[in-house]
Amino acid sequence: MTFVDSSTDRLVWDGEGFTLWFTGLSGAGKTTIARLVEQELRARGMKVERLDGDIVRQGLTRDLGFTKEDRDKNIERVTFVAKLLSRNGIAVLCSFISPYRATRQRVREEVTNFIEVFVDVPLEVAIERDVKGLYKKALAGEIDNFTGISDPYEPPENPEIWIRTHEETPEESAARVIAYLEEHGYVPARVPV
Ligand code: ADX
Repeated sequence: MTFVDSSTDRLVWDGEGFTLWFTGLSGAGKTTIARLVEQELRARGMKVERLDGDIVRQGLTRDLGFTKEDRDKNIERVTFVAKLLSRNGIAVLCSFISPYRATRQRVREEVTNFIEVFVDVPLEVAIERDVKGLYKKALAGEIDNFTGISDPYEPPENPEIWIRTHEETPEESAARVIAYLEEHGYVPARVPV
């Protein structure tokens, strides 16, 4: 339920926390969509924490690389954080390639209200976008274990939300995530102003 906190006059939501897990290739659009969802949830009075591969890997997991073992450790540590937050009523938005199905299954079992969002894009489109210039390097053999090029990506078989970022705008994708959360009672409806 949403209520107005009389001491601050701000909207507060006291529903359960959840973990939105954005998985997909590098450049699929995970971070972009998670940011838009974050803005919308905050506008509705929710407490949100966003955990993102590119940022977490500069801190909590900066000692790790991209072997299967290291990727699993990366996700294991993030799962620990997501578990603490989500069980305390926070909306946790995680964007990680997280290429291994079994690893994502372990996250599902650990955190509160796991919602898998498959941010799907054809590999050719990700290569064409190449926002960070990493595909070019990977194709030239300058980066090892690069997901989609020299390392596997196991797509989810039954994600709660399936987004095809080459077929819709980030705003449309974010709206679909919000619609799912509303339908399942995870977020308050937008309060009319
Ligand atoms: S995960 O596999 O462990 O889930 P994570 O999402 O944290 O990966 O980090 C992926 C990001 O690291 C990519 O978006 C990209 O910017 C960068 N990166 C650097 N090297 C690689 C690589 N070999 N494979 C995939 N991403 C890489």
